[in-house]
Amino acid sequence: MIDYTKMIILAKNAMKNSYSPYSNFKVGACVLTKSGKYYLGTNVENSSFGATVCAERSAICCAVTDGEREFEAIAIVSSGDDYTFPCGICRQFISEFNKDIKIIVAKDEKNYKIFTLQKLLQNGFNKGDIK
Ligand code: THU
Repeated sequence: MIDYTKMIILAKNAMKNSYSPYSNFKVGACVLTKSGKYYLGTNVENSSFGATVCAERSAICCAVTDGEREFEAIAIVSSGDDYTFPCGICRQFISEFNKDIKIIVAKDEKNYKIFTLQKLLQNGFNKGDIK
């Protein structure tokens, strides 16, 4: 059983460290590995805007750095009023590791929605396409 509440609380904690002086839009992410570990990420902006890294990719990079590549779910929270969905680059980035991963977009611990990545990224490019 995935503990969505825990994932959302952890993502909210990560969001506190957001470095977002340009947008003032804070994002936090928590990825759960199939082995039961949690890794966190937040958005890290840059004066060269295109160099900004989203929270989701931050979290996945932390997990991969620690040797994890099998992911069950990722929760995303933000300082915005509405649900924050992963951007296109993040959908593609996440799909590298699991096309069936659950994506939890949350306003708070009580208000969240669950999707599969398949639903959010249809006909994505993947390693099988490189021949
Ligand atoms: N952002 C994320 O961290 N994740 C997303 O999926 C959407 C956008 C960040 C990037 C930037 O720091 C800020 O939100 C505004 O775009």
